[in-house]
Amino acid sequence: MATNRTLTMIKPDAVKAGHIGAILNQINEAGFRIVALKLTQLTQASAEQFYAVHHERPFFGELVEFMTSGPIVAAILEKDNAVADFRTLIGATNPAEAAEGTIRAKYAKSIGENAVHGSDSDENAAIEGNFHFAGCEQY
Ligand code: CMP
Repeated sequence: MATNRTLTMIKPDAVKAGHIGAILNQINEAGFRIVALKLTQLTQASAEQFYAVHHERPFFGELVEFMTSGPIVAAILEKDNAVADFRTLIGATNPAEAAEGTIRAKYAKSIGENAVHGSDSDENAAIEGNFHFAGCEQY
């Protein structure tokens, strides 16, 4: 089951800009099934925990500040080959390098404010899914 699931967050920049509906629609059109969904806001502590792997990076403080700056949409998505296919759908981390038509090419502002998150491995997809959702919230 875990191999077919990934975790996404629609980040504060895209939520503020009113892109929740368009992004969820593009995700559905690409064949992903939403199996968990919520509008929520990360606290300083929860953002630091979620991004703990980036703790030593120079952009860590900026990343936590941005990710706590407003509500996000968290979702678990299901599809064959979910992790890799979702990363293709969202495009490169830096929107300047994201392929045309990808979610980041369309909606991201910068490498920091890049509209959406996608898990980078099946293992992290399971960890990140369980970070945002209790078992009874995953369908
Ligand atoms: P994401 O891949 O969702 O998770 C890690 C985030 O760190 C990444 O998106 C970017 O938003 C952010 N990030 C990566 N590199 C940089 C950078 N050079 N400057 C600012 N933020 C960055």
